[in-house]
Amino acid sequence: MAELLDYLRAIGFEDLYLSQPAERTNRVEEVEASPLRGAEERQRELEALAARATGCTLCPLSEHRNKVAFGAGDPNADLMFIGEGPGAEEDRQGLPFVGRAGELLTKIIQAIDLTREKVYIANIVKCRPPGNRDPQPEEVAACRPYLEAQIDNIQPKVIVLLGKVAAQTLLGTDYTLGRMRGQWYHVRGIETRVTYHPAALLRNASFKRPTWEDMQIIRDRLQELS
Ligand code: URA
Repeated sequence: MAELLDYLRAIGFEDLYLSQPAERTNRVEEVEASPLRGAEERQRELEALAARATGCTLCPLSEHRNKVAFGAGDPNADLMFIGEGPGAEEDRQGLPFVGRAGELLTKIIQAIDLTREKVYIANIVKCRPPGNRDPQPEEVAACRPYLEAQIDNIQPKVIVLLGKVAAQTLLGTDYTLGRMRGQWYHVRGIETRVTYHPAALLRNASFKRPTWEDMQIIRDRLQELS
């Protein structure tokens, strides 16, 4: 425990709070029930999707990309993180969250006793928007079937939406991040929570504490569901 506290302090979580009981509401209705299929079949489908995304030209982001960052992690993960879109390092490596924000996300995952290998990490768009601008609505729409198929195939127990773009896209609202945090939703039938994007934590350290509070609630819910 002392080791964990030292560790959390090292990544900037100065104040630690006991988690509060999780409040649950169903703000976003399940859009489509996932078919019941075996883990192997779902994994094969995910691999086929990743291969298809590699050659995807459905939106203009494909013209500037170096590599598609489709997703990474365990296809049978209980916990799935969804960010906005690849940055420069993600575009270079073809993997989500491997730059500075990704390093912080890795530490946040470890802070709830998981590893990157045990969760699944994806983005709203799989190709880098030039200059790291927000993805345009038509780019989000073109990429959405990939993300929905990822969610349906992985069938995590909990989804974490990282930042405003991921949350607004999947919750179908234009609310601020502050308004979207603090409650449970359902996205494609999966319990979903919103927290700050790790890049926001790098810009503004005051977001670290609420993020830690969110992560404790998510960890507790995962334990309840396991
Ligand atoms: N920011 C994101 O939203 N996704 C990444 O993969 C990297 C940075």
